[in-house]
Amino acid sequence: MVVMTKSPQTLEDVAMAMVAPGKGILAADESSGTIKKRFDKINTVSTDDTRRDYREMLFRTSAAMRGQISGVILYDETIKQKAKDGTPLVQIIEQSGALPGIKVDEGAKALAGFPGETVTEGLDKLRERLTAYRELGARFAKWRAVIDIGRKGDRTIPTLYCIKANNHALARYAALCQETGIVPIIEPEVLMDGDHDIDRCAEVTEATLSHLFAELIQHRVKLEGTVLKPNMVIAGKLAGKRAGIEEVAEKTVRVLARTVPAAVPGIAFLSGGQSDEDATAHLSAMNAAGNLPWRLTFSYGRALQAAAQKAWGGKPENTAAAQRAFAHRAKMNGLAAAGKWKQDLETVA
Ligand code: 13P
Repeated sequence: MVVMTKSPQTLEDVAMAMVAPGKGILAADESSGTIKKRFDKINTVSTDDTRRDYREMLFRTSAAMRGQISGVILYDETIKQKAKDGTPLVQIIEQSGALPGIKVDEGAKALAGFPGETVTEGLDKLRERLTAYRELGARFAKWRAVIDIGRKGDRTIPTLYCIKANNHALARYAALCQETGIVPIIEPEVLMDGDHDIDRCAEVTEATLSHLFAELIQHRVKLEGTVLKPNMVIAGKLAGKRAGIEEVAEKTVRVLARTVPAAVPGIAFLSGGQSDEDATAHLSAMNAAGNLPWRLTFSYGRALQAAAQKAWGGKPENTAAAQRAFAHRAKMNGLAAAGKWKQDLETVA
């Protein structure tokens, strides 16, 4: 018989469990289009079964799931899927002691009148969808807003209107989640696409987060029962000048300190296209500096899964190797959440 660990009940307890010391979140909620792109890279056809096999492999990696993973963000298909032996995937996650969560937004869509900018959709019937997901076992949800930095013709983006439209949707989503007894992960992602420098990212991230919290408070969202999932403050991928690890850590913490109330229990970063090791190093540097009002951890998709996908390559015989790769990244990020990661630990895998 599987002994279930006692599950947290209140919104505050669930949020605290999601950011428990040394633990973080596995974002495995790639939409069908995104997971196909990931599978294309490893020459694997994306079908219901291959997606199930791949995700089942992750959720059965007990070293990671029992050790460093506090929760898993699922996609609509996965929260309803069963493992090969008929066990619901949600149950496998619960039995490891981690919490199941669900992505509920319906993607970033063109924002009418604002070329090159998007607003995330999915508020219609959200109350009903959240209720159904709660019954399927979801304890938390995720909604991702996308803010792009750049130039469109003679204009610079983002516009303030784009930030406002996205934050309004995030706040309405968060309020509906809490009404349903679900902790909202609030994800305003300032993209690292483009050639902007780190200071431009800091400026846009600060504008986005400061407006976001005003909006959440107006919508009567209880901050104690939320988890923020922001980008780190980082130069664009095409920027000529890269900021070092310490500079990213320092500028990210500075922006967060200016904008995120101490009532928020935890901040779980997205990896956003950083290399696996950079995502870990940055998180560790922030935690090593210490003296923070909130817990800082990871909610990585790519930076937790890329190595496992490569090792797996769509072949059942590679399951153990893929699980080792996932367990290793989970362990490194668990250390980073405690500020204890060191580069030389990467090589003693
Ligand atoms: P990445 O860590 O790959 O950015 O994904 C996290 C996520 O959930 C994006 O919504």
